[in-house]
Amino acid sequence: MHVTTLFDRPDAPMEAVVRRSWPDWMFGAEGADLLGIVRRFPRHQVILFEGSELVAVGNSVPLAQVPDALPDDGWDWALRSAAPGPHRCALAVSVLPTHRGRGLSSQVLRAFGPTLVPVRPNGFTGGDFAEHVAATRGDGLPVDPWLRTHVRLGGRVEGVCSRSMTLRASPDAWEGWDRSGLLAELTPDGVYVEPNVWVRHG
Ligand SMILES: CC(C)(COP(=O)(O)OP(=O)(O)OC[C@H]1O[C@@H](n2cnc3c(N)ncnc32)[C@H](O)[C@@H]1OP(=O)(O)O)[C@@H](O)C(=O)NCCC(=O)NCCS
Repeated sequence: MHVTTLFDRPDAPMEAVVRRSWPDWMFGAEGADLLGIVRRFPRHQVILFEGSELVAVGNSVPLAQVPDALPDDGWDWALRSAAPGPHRCALAVSVLPTHRGRGLSSQVLRAFGPTLVPVRPNGFTGGDFAEHVAATRGDGLPVDPWLRTHVRLGGRVEGVCSRSMTLRASPDAWEGWDRSGLLAELTPDGVYVEPNVWVRHG
C-alpha cells in the first residue's frame, strides 16, 4: 500500500475512483463542483495505491480562515471558501467498492493530518438526526459507522451542520437514479439538503 498526493502523481485517475465510489446522484445533481475545485489543490488530494491500482482517494481543500462558529452549510461553505491558507477541510473519502471494509479509509484520514470535516453519518436512516449523531455503543464510540471511524482516530464532534450540502435536479432525474445513501428527503421540486456533523481532527 502506498499513500501519496495528486501533486506527486498527477497522472493518477483520481476522478474516476471518486465517481465509481459514489451513487449517480452525487455527481448527477447540480451542486458545488467538488472535482473541479479540488483539482486546484493537488497537494491536498490524498491518493492510496495498492500495487499500481489507485483504490482510495481523500479530497480536501485549504482554507485561509475558519470562523469560531463553524458554518451551518459546512460542505458548500468549504468548497466556496477554498483558498491557499493554513487550515484544511476534508470533503470526501472514496474507497472503491471492491476494496471496502478493510480500513483503507482510516489510512486516508490519517494522511490528512489536522483537518475539519463535515462528516456525513452514513448510517442515518431517518428519525432525529442529532440523536443519531449522539448515539453511542457500549464502548463509548458512535453507533454511526463513518462517524465512529472519525472518532476512533481522535476526531472531536463539534456540532451539526444542518444544511451542509445542497443538490438540485429535476424530479425525473432523481427518479432515474439509484438514490442509495441519501441522508434526507428530497423536496417535491428535487432539492436535496444534506445534514452533516462537524468533526475536528488535531
Ligand atoms: C465510507 C467509506 C469511505 C468507508 O471506507 P472503508 O475503508 O471501507 O471503511 P472501513 O473498512 O474503515 O469501515 C468503516 C466502518 O464502517 C463499517 N462498515 C463498513 N461497511 C459497512 C456497511 N456496508 N454497513 C455498515 N457499516 C459498515 C465498518 O465496520 C467500520 O466500522 P468498525 O470498524 O467500527 O466496525 C466507503 O464505504 C466509501 O467510499 N463509501 C462511499 C463514499 C462515502 O460515503 N464516503 C464517506 C463520506 S465522505
